[in-house]
Amino acid sequence: MAAGLGGFGFMHNNVLTILFCCMMIIGLIMPSPSEASIIKKYKFDIQMKNVSRLCHAKPIVTVNGRYPGPTVYAREGDRVQVTVTNHVQYNLSIHWHGLKQHRNGWADGPAYITQCPIQTGSSYTYDFNVTGQRGTLWWHAHILWLRVTVHGAIVIMPKLGTPFPFPQPAREFEILLGEWWNNDVEEIEKQGTQRGLAPNISDAHTINGKPGPLFPCSEKHTYAMEVEQGKSYLLRIINAALNDELFFAIAGHNMTVVEVDAVYTKPFTTNSIIIGPGQTTNVLVHANNAPCRYFMAARTFEDVPLTVDNKTATAILQYKGVPNTVIPSLPKLPAINDSAFVLSYNKKLRSLNSDKYPANVPLKVDRNLFYTIGLGMNPCPTCVNGTRLVASLNNVSFVLPQTALLQAHYFNLKGVFSTDFPDRPSKPFNYTGAPLKANLATLKGTRLSKIAFNSTVELVLQDTNLLTVESHPFHLHGYNFFVVGTGIGNFNASKDPANYNLVDPIERNTVGVPTGGWVAIRFRADNPGVWFMHCHLELHTGWGLKMAFVVEDGPEKHQSVLPPPKDLPKC
Ligand code: C2O
Repeated sequence: MAAGLGGFGFMHNNVLTILFCCMMIIGLIMPSPSEASIIKKYKFDIQMKNVSRLCHAKPIVTVNGRYPGPTVYAREGDRVQVTVTNHVQYNLSIHWHGLKQHRNGWADGPAYITQCPIQTGSSYTYDFNVTGQRGTLWWHAHILWLRVTVHGAIVIMPKLGTPFPFPQPAREFEILLGEWWNNDVEEIEKQGTQRGLAPNISDAHTINGKPGPLFPCSEKHTYAMEVEQGKSYLLRIINAALNDELFFAIAGHNMTVVEVDAVYTKPFTTNSIIIGPGQTTNVLVHANNAPCRYFMAARTFEDVPLTVDNKTATAILQYKGVPNTVIPSLPKLPAINDSAFVLSYNKKLRSLNSDKYPANVPLKVDRNLFYTIGLGMNPCPTCVNGTRLVASLNNVSFVLPQTALLQAHYFNLKGVFSTDFPDRPSKPFNYTGAPLKANLATLKGTRLSKIAFNSTVELVLQDTNLLTVESHPFHLHGYNFFVVGTGIGNFNASKDPANYNLVDPIERNTVGVPTGGWVAIRFRADNPGVWFMHCHLELHTGWGLKMAFVVEDGPEKHQSVLPPPKDLPKC
């Protein structure tokens, strides 16, 4: 009797504790009307962790020992502080991919662009506001190839009391697509650089860090997601792969696309999505099929004959109550080279453009830019073929400086960069004709393009057949842009703009330049600072397919770059 009472008392205390904890958590998450902003604090410890996939164990770089890393949750309007402490041998930095970081490039993260990397044994706190954005974004290491395992989701909920502009799902799931190498990825990358060739392709794709049962030793390494028949679910899909654009589909289920890159879209239904590295896609999935088990699958899109990892990662969508012994069926993914699917899918992507979420497309352009994307071979006596593969924009292969560009800009340090990045190629040529083997003798340099504050910019990214045409997912830091036009072949400045969509073009932070084609994007340069732009295929970034804009301060005090934080890492 006494023991029973004691037990009850203990339980009672526990319930109280739990209630109290819940209240604390609610207090933390729900802003009271008097509070201007809520601070969400996170601690990221960069540490090694032994992980095994495909029957191969190896130490990997992680955040808090987790792969994929922890999700950062915030609400629109919150302030977020993430203290990153580096316990590994690599100096590194973390990028909050897709967050605009208004005036606050100090928290953007690309190494040697906005900050020097955080040295082994040191810490840095990324301190930023989440303003005017809601949806799915992600964070990742922004140096070397470390983002292969150092990445995670960012989930920004709408302001309290603001519903989604689509039916409220029963639950949400984060789906991170990635790549796995059996060997040390930094070693593989180093070998590639020494040889002047592309490093070895990955050994598997992954869904939430797991390759699934089409690979050996997958018993523990299959991700499963449980659903109840009749309910709807929101999938926050992120392509965190290094080098592969991916198709994703679910057997027996359609998906309704409602958001990309943290911007709401006009909903449309599809049986597959295409998602490039850097991009995010939110889809609604209605669990309206027979209770069973269904495979979700991800596989590469590559429409030129290059060597790529073409293996399929799978995970399981499992209806509640269905035994694990049921063998799931596979979805039908588009063929690996199905460019027609990609073109038609991208055409369906439109901004929601409602009263609440208008598409403020710049209608008049102050500055026209035209950049060609080129691959090339530069002489390299120590390399395997005596040449090194390089990549360039307007024939400039970008060289990372030793000092962070944003500091050089803010403190007016001379000799770190020049501002003569060309607005267009010096000699126009037939960009997408027969393959061009001639080496254009790619120039190297830390050349930036200077943009006047608040000017409107149109940038046409033109793929070329220098060595080979290929599709490239381009990412701009510090901004979203509108994708006003795209096409195959050479951009025609006198004809193509007539077909632009200036009403409801998709707004995003990463866009695929089609193989042998072009894409036109527009943005208003209202965010002062130094902003990186690069191909989000790590392979190409490393070869120099990158540049940066320096957006000048505006005349008003609130239009200039904020002062740097005290703990900004030194080079
Ligand atoms: Cu997600 Cu500069 O990158």
